Amino acid sequence: MENTPADSAVKFFNGKQIPLEMHKVKIVQALNLVPVERRLEAIRKAGFNSFLLGTKDIFLDMLTDSGTNAQSDSQVSKMFIADEAYAGSQSFERFEKSVLMVFGKKYVLPVHQGRAAENMLGKAFIREGSVIPTNYHFTTTLAHIQLNGGKVLELFTPEAMKVKSSHPFKGNMDIQKLEDAIINAGPENVPFIRMEASTNLLGGQPFSMENLREVRKTADKYGVMIVLDASLVGENAYFIKRREKGFENRSLEEILKEMGSMCDIIYFSGRKVSSSRGGAICTNNQEIYDRIKFLLPVYEGFLTYGGIPIREIESMAEGLKETVDENVVSHSPAFINYMVRELDKLGIPVIMPGGALGCHIDAGQFLDHLPQDEYPAGALIAAFYIVSGVRGMERGTMSNNRDENGRDILADLELMRLAVPRRVFTLSQIEYVIDRLHWLYRNRRLIGGLRFIQEPPLLRFFIGRLEPLSDWPRKLAIKFREDIGESL
Ligand code: F0G
Repeated sequence: MENTPADSAVKFFNGKQIPLEMHKVKIVQALNLVPVERRLEAIRKAGFNSFLLGTKDIFLDMLTDSGTNAQSDSQVSKMFIADEAYAGSQSFERFEKSVLMVFGKKYVLPVHQGRAAENMLGKAFIREGSVIPTNYHFTTTLAHIQLNGGKVLELFTPEAMKVKSSHPFKGNMDIQKLEDAIINAGPENVPFIRMEASTNLLGGQPFSMENLREVRKTADKYGVMIVLDASLVGENAYFIKRREKGFENRSLEEILKEMGSMCDIIYFSGRKVSSSRGGAICTNNQEIYDRIKFLLPVYEGFLTYGGIPIREIESMAEGLKETVDENVVSHSPAFINYMVRELDKLGIPVIMPGGALGCHIDAGQFLDHLPQDEYPAGALIAAFYIVSGVRGMERGTMSNNRDENGRDILADLELMRLAVPRRVFTLSQIEYVIDRLHWLYRNRRLIGGLRFIQEPPLLRFFIGRLEPLSDWPRKLAIKFREDIGESL
């Protein structure tokens, strides 16, 4: 991985490999770095769950890129001309045009966010006993599939579980496993195959075009639909261009169209394409469209606003168009790639190669003294917040539900995700993150485990509360104060 080029548009004469921002700052939000003692108090009040922290106590918010990517001037300007109407809005027509341009799909059903699309698809296609093969699940997807009586089969390749790898497409689906799964379940019980672009829970890892073609062939063989979760599709297309032979000179627009042409249904969270709300389900098949269409006014809103303000429809329309601009889409992967390379140099275990959405630290290895049922990824996030004021997100066992016997379902990967929303952070802020992680890695044995004290039955990571198994958070804060001092 040492030789991975920096994803910047410009080569540096001095040979440095650093990403270059292809935008300038126009509007800013002030940040505040509260002292370590206050951070300790804040994480206690938040039940050691980063979702329950307030932003007044957060320095760099790396929880997610959802609804937090920077918006472009053209997005904001389009929001002013929004045609606010309950039905038949011209803004929706512009949104349809963007969807057609990016995915080549003519029917568009707007929803208020990505999981609402999953709810519609679940209600329209999943029955008791349905089986959904996927390259990997996403938390909300799994919840909707299970709520409708379906079962998810994770058909990732062995490479996906290797933390340090140079495989360019760790989000690929295992084609043999797919065929076996369809035969075992019976094609009539497989309403669709779900492919997720830049597979979130595998560390933002893409699939290749070749893999999607193979999935399509198998789907055709058994007459099964393909549903693409396109929430992070721009980045996946960008990785295809950068990493897959034969695509070096193809535009993102061409790559996206080709991907789109192989999928029966595409849905996405608009919150990942730089708008603060929204999402959509898109298809060229009128039967599919008709089947879902009736659900929309029941759960979301009328067919042309989908439960969100029309200005957000405008923002999504423009954000989608920007998905074909390499300067826009490459920003987050380039910064992630930089972080990954620097952390690896320091010996910090991090998912490699760098993917989309964020930098993923392997908390299992980082805290190899903690058993998985003490939530190493959750503990690492709490510890990292205490020593940096940076908020990450747990993507490990805490993000799973329990099994029917009330036992933890141990996650395949125990990850601390540090999201790098598009065009939000500067390189010096990224350097700060690397520096604090470096300190924490050297002091990692001070970190202890966590246990739940309040735990919702579904998606417990959002609002569950935990407590430390010993007095480790205070000891960590004291050591940090002694070592760093942290005067600003
Ligand atoms: N699919 C993927 C791949 C996602 O990453 C998300 C959201 C969703 C569906 C659901 O979309 O939030 O608009 O309802 N991911 C966010 C994240 C929550 O932080 O990774 P939503």
